[in-house]
Amino acid sequence: MPVAIITGASKGLGRALAEALGARGWDLVLDARGADALEETAEAVTRHGTRVVALPGDVTDGGHRAQLVAAAWRLGGADLVVSNASALGAEPLVRLAELPLEGLRRALEVNVVAALGLVQEALPLLQASPAGTVIAVTSDAAAEAYGTWGGYGASKAALDQLAAVLGVEEPGLRVWAVDPGDMATDLYTAAVPDDDAPRPAPADVVPAFLRLLDERPASGRYAAPSLLEVR
Ligand SMILES: NC(=O)c1ccc[n+]([C@@H]2O[C@H](COP(=O)([O-])OP(=O)(O)OC[C@H]3O[C@@H](n4cnc5c(N)ncnc54)[C@H](OP(=O)(O)O)[C@@H]3O)[C@@H](O)[C@H]2O)c1
Repeated sequence: MPVAIITGASKGLGRALAEALGARGWDLVLDARGADALEETAEAVTRHGTRVVALPGDVTDGGHRAQLVAAAWRLGGADLVVSNASALGAEPLVRLAELPLEGLRRALEVNVVAALGLVQEALPLLQASPAGTVIAVTSDAAAEAYGTWGGYGASKAALDQLAAVLGVEEPGLRVWAVDPGDMATDLYTAAVPDDDAPRPAPADVVPAFLRLLDERPASGRYAAPSLLEVR
C-alpha cells in the first residue's frame, strides 16, 4: 500500500484528507501538536483497516520531522508528503503595521522552513517511490493582496516558490502547490473571527486532491475550485 505523511492532520483539511486516503487504503503517518485530537483522528482513520501512525509534535522540530519520516520508512516508504500544518502569524489577523515580527517569523518557520525540512528528510524515500509526490498546501493569500493577510500570504508565497523550484529540481517527483480555497475551519475562524459567511467543509475540497493523485498532472500550482469543476 502507498504511504503518506500528512502534517496538521488532527482536524480541518488534514483530517479530511487522512480519512479519504485511509478509505482508499493508504497507510498514513499523521502529525499535529495536540495529542488527543490526533489520536481521535487516527482511530477514525484506522476504521478503514489501514495502518496509521499518529505522532504528536510540532513540525518546526527537526527531531519530530525525522520521527515522521522514520515511521513512514517502517511502513514501507514515503510516496506522498503533504505539508498542511500552518501558522497565521497573528490571531486574529492584523494589518502589516501591527504584525508582530515574532508572528511573521513563526509563520515562516511553520509554513516554509518546516515544510522544506520535512521534504529534505523524506527525499530519499520519495525518490525511491514509483510515484513520489509532494503537496504543499498554499492559499490564494499567496497571490492576492488581501488586507491583514500579508504575513501569512508572504509565507505561502515563499512556500509556492519552494514548491515550484523543487518541481524543477526533482523531475522524477510530482510537486504540487495546492490552494484549497476558503474552508470552514478553526484556522479561518482564528484568522477572521467575525466573518461567519458560509464556506465549504474541508471534506468538500478533498476530491480536488484526489483528482490530482488520480491524474498526476505536471508539477505546478493548482487551485481546488478549478479542479472541482465538472470535467
Ligand atoms: N481554512 C481556509 O479557509 C484555508 C484557505 C486557504 C488555505 N488553507 C490552508 O489549508 C491548510 C489546512 O488548514 P485548515 O483550515 O484545515 O486548518 P485547521 O483546521 O486549523 O487545522 C490545522 C491543523 O494543523 C495542526 N498544526 C498547526 N500548527 C502545527 C504545527 N506547528 N505542527 C504540527 N501541526 C500543526 C493543527 O493541530 P494542532 O493545533 O493540535 O497542532 C491542525 O491539525 C493550511 O495550510 C492552511 O493555510 C486554509
